[in-house]
Amino acid sequence: MVKVRDQKKTMNSDYESKIHGLICNMTLEEKVGQLTQFLPSLFGAFGLTKDEIIAKLVEGEISYEEFQAIERNYHKDEIREGLLGSMGGVTGAELSNELQKIAVEESRLGIPLLFGLDVVHGYRTIFPIPLAEACSWDLELIEKTAEIAAKEASAAGIHWTYAPMVDITRDPRWGRVAEGAGEDTYLGSMIAAARVRGFQGEDLTKPERILACAKHFAAYGGAVGGRDYNTVDMSLQTLHEVYLPPFEAAAKSGVGTFMSAFNDLNGVPCTINKYLLTDVLREHFGFNGFVVSDANSIAEVVVHGDSENRKEASKKALLAGLEMDMSQGTYKEDLPEQIKDGSIPVEFLDEAVRRILRVKFQMGLFDNPYRTNNEIEEKSLLALEHIEIAREMAKRSIVLLKNEDDILPLKKNLNKIAVIGPLANNKKEMLGTWAITGNEEDVVTILSGITSAVEEESEIVHARGCEVIGDDGTDFKTAVEIANESDVIIAVVGENADMSGEASSRMDLNLPGRQEELLKALHQTGKPVVVILINGRPLSIPWAAENVAAIVEAWQLGIQTGSAVADVLFGDYNPSGKLVATFPYSVGQVPIYYNHPRTGRPASKIKFTSKYIDGPYQPLYPFGFGLSYTTFNYENLFVNSPEVTKDGLITISIDVSNTGQRAGEEVVQLYISDVVASRVRPVKELIGFKKINLQPGERHTVTFELDINSLGFFNEAMEYIVEAGLFKVFIGSNSQDGLEGEFRVIEK
Ligand code: BGC
Repeated sequence: MVKVRDQKKTMNSDYESKIHGLICNMTLEEKVGQLTQFLPSLFGAFGLTKDEIIAKLVEGEISYEEFQAIERNYHKDEIREGLLGSMGGVTGAELSNELQKIAVEESRLGIPLLFGLDVVHGYRTIFPIPLAEACSWDLELIEKTAEIAAKEASAAGIHWTYAPMVDITRDPRWGRVAEGAGEDTYLGSMIAAARVRGFQGEDLTKPERILACAKHFAAYGGAVGGRDYNTVDMSLQTLHEVYLPPFEAAAKSGVGTFMSAFNDLNGVPCTINKYLLTDVLREHFGFNGFVVSDANSIAEVVVHGDSENRKEASKKALLAGLEMDMSQGTYKEDLPEQIKDGSIPVEFLDEAVRRILRVKFQMGLFDNPYRTNNEIEEKSLLALEHIEIAREMAKRSIVLLKNEDDILPLKKNLNKIAVIGPLANNKKEMLGTWAITGNEEDVVTILSGITSAVEEESEIVHARGCEVIGDDGTDFKTAVEIANESDVIIAVVGENADMSGEASSRMDLNLPGRQEELLKALHQTGKPVVVILINGRPLSIPWAAENVAAIVEAWQLGIQTGSAVADVLFGDYNPSGKLVATFPYSVGQVPIYYNHPRTGRPASKIKFTSKYIDGPYQPLYPFGFGLSYTTFNYENLFVNSPEVTKDGLITISIDVSNTGQRAGEEVVQLYISDVVASRVRPVKELIGFKKINLQPGERHTVTFELDINSLGFFNEAMEYIVEAGLFKVFIGSNSQDGLEGEFRVIEK
C-alpha cells in the first residue's frame, strides 16, 4: 500500500520563523526572483527570443559552449542581485558550487539556489526508460534505481529532478508513454510512490537525496489524438478515478514539488487551473510543497487564448497556485508591476515565496548549500554497484511476448548466430528518451552482449539490413546471406530513442522504415527468427506476432541493454516482465486499454456490437501479459466470505505452482469488477499484485487483503461512494486470463 506521510509534519516551526523573517526583509524583486527559474540554455540571453537563439546556434554563429559560457555570466549578475531562485540544466559539482557560492556569499540575503534537471531514468548510469522499468512490477527495484539516480545527480550538483512523470497513458501514439508507468492507475500509483521514495528518501537534508516532482499535473496523457500538447477533455469522474490517483500517491509519499501540465483540461490550461492547483492539490491532497510551471507554459496561456497577454497569464497562474515559473522569465517581467498597483494582493506572492523557501529549508540548503564536490562526483557516477543494478533492472524490464516451441532460451554453443538489424550494434538508441546526462559510450550493445554470453566456439555474424527510418543503406542481400548460414537469426528492430518522449507523437505504430520487410526477408530463409524489439511505446506488430518464432520486448534498457538481453536470450535470467500498456493490432484500435467501461453491446459474433468490420477488437497483447521459460498453474481461488460490509476487509487467496522445469518469477494479478453500479464501471480493474519466485514444482498460496472502501467511485455529484452489490474478482497472470470468484458488499 502507498505509504502515507503527513506533509504537515514536515513543517518545522524553526524554519517557518526564519522564512517569515526573510520575507519581511525581501524586496519585491527579490521575492519574484525566488519564483523565477532560468534554464542556462536557450531562454533570455542577449535579449533574444528562444527562436532567435536557436537560429544563431543552428547557423553556427555561436557554439553551444560559447553560448553557455556567455549566458552563465549573464545569470551570475542576476544571482548576485538575488533575482533567481532556481536554475535548470546546470550540471557538475564545480559549476553548481561556483554559482551557489555567488547566491550564498555574494547576494544580499544569501538565499541558496535550487538546481533542477530532468533526471528521468538515471543520471550517468542510465536505467531502462520508465515504461520499461514499470514492466518489472518490482517496486523495490524501481525505488532503488531512483535512489541511485538521486545519488549520482546530487553528486553532480543537482537538487531537484523533474520526475517522476506519473501521467496515465492510454494512447501509444503519444510519445511520452515512454516516460510513465503505463495505462493502469493502481500500478501507476504504486510506482509513483516508489519513485518518490527512491528520489527523496526519508530525509531530504541528506546530500545524496534529491527533491522529486510529480508531473504533469494533470491529465496530460489524455491529449486528444495522442498528439503532444493537445487539448484534454474528460469527465471529472475519469479525472479523479483514473488520472489523479498517481498524483495523490506521490503527494502522500511526500513529494516536494509538482509540475503543471502544458494541456488545457476541459477548457482551462493546467498552468492557470485553480481547481487543479489549489482545490485538488492543496485542499484535497494536502500538498504543501510548490508547483513549477512546465517550460514556458505561463506565456503559452496567451497562445491557448485564455489570456490576452503575459501579464494576465502571470496573474492567473499565481492566483491559481503556481509558484515557480520555469524558463521564460514571465513572472519576473510581469508580476512586479501588478503587485505594486495592487491588482495582485501581495499575500499571494508571499505565500509562493514561502512555499519555495520552505522546500529549500527542508532540503537543508541554508545549512549546507554545497552538497557535493568533484571527488564525490567522480566516485559516484557509474559506480560498479550502479551498473550492476542497471543490469538487474534491465533484465527484469524485459517482456517475453512470444516463444514458439520453446525456442528460447538459446544454447550458448550454437555454431553460428546471425545478429541482424539496425539496432543490433547500436549504443545511442539504447539510452531512450531523456538521457541528457548519459553517455552512449557506457552502453553495452546487443551485439556485444550476445558475443560475451556465448561460448568461444560459437560464431556471431552481424549485418544491419536496413536503417530504422527510410531507405538509405538498405541491404537485405547481405543480411539474408549471413542468415542463411546461421542456426538462428536474432533480429533487433524498433524505434530510435527520439521517436518517443516529448514532441514525438506518431500516427503510425508499425515498425518504422523497412524493418518489417527485413523481418519478412529473414523469415523467408526458413531459419528461426527471434525478434528483439527496441522501442519507447507499444507497437502494432501483428505480422511478427503471427510469423516469427519469438519476440522479446526489450524497450530501451539503458547502459546494460546488451547484457540484459543476452541474460534473457540464453536463459541466465528467466524473463518475468509483464506489459503495463496494451499492444494493439493496429493504430486504428487506439485508444485501447484493458480497463475500459462496459458498453451496452460488448463485442461478439453478432454484427451490431462494439467492434470493427476490418480487424479484431481484441488487443494483440493485453495489459499484464508476459511469458516465462516456465509455466504457472493457478488453482483454488478462495474468497474468505460471501459477504462483506462497506467498511470491511475481504481476503482472497489462490494457489500458484510452477509446473515447468525452471525456477521463475510470476506477477500474480488481482482484478476486480463491480458488477452493478449506479454509474457504468470498467470491465475490470487491477487492485492488487504480488511478484513471487517459485522453484520447479513449488506451490505458493498468494493472499490479498482488500479494503472494501477502496472499491468505490465518484457519483454524479462527485462524491466518492462504495455501493452495495455483487463484485467479481479475477486472479491470473494477465488481464485476460484468470480464475474467477465473487463476493457481495452489503450495507452495515
Ligand atoms: C517537459 C517537462 C520537462 C521540462 C524541463 C518540458 O518541455 O514537458 O517534462 O521537465 O521541459 O526540461
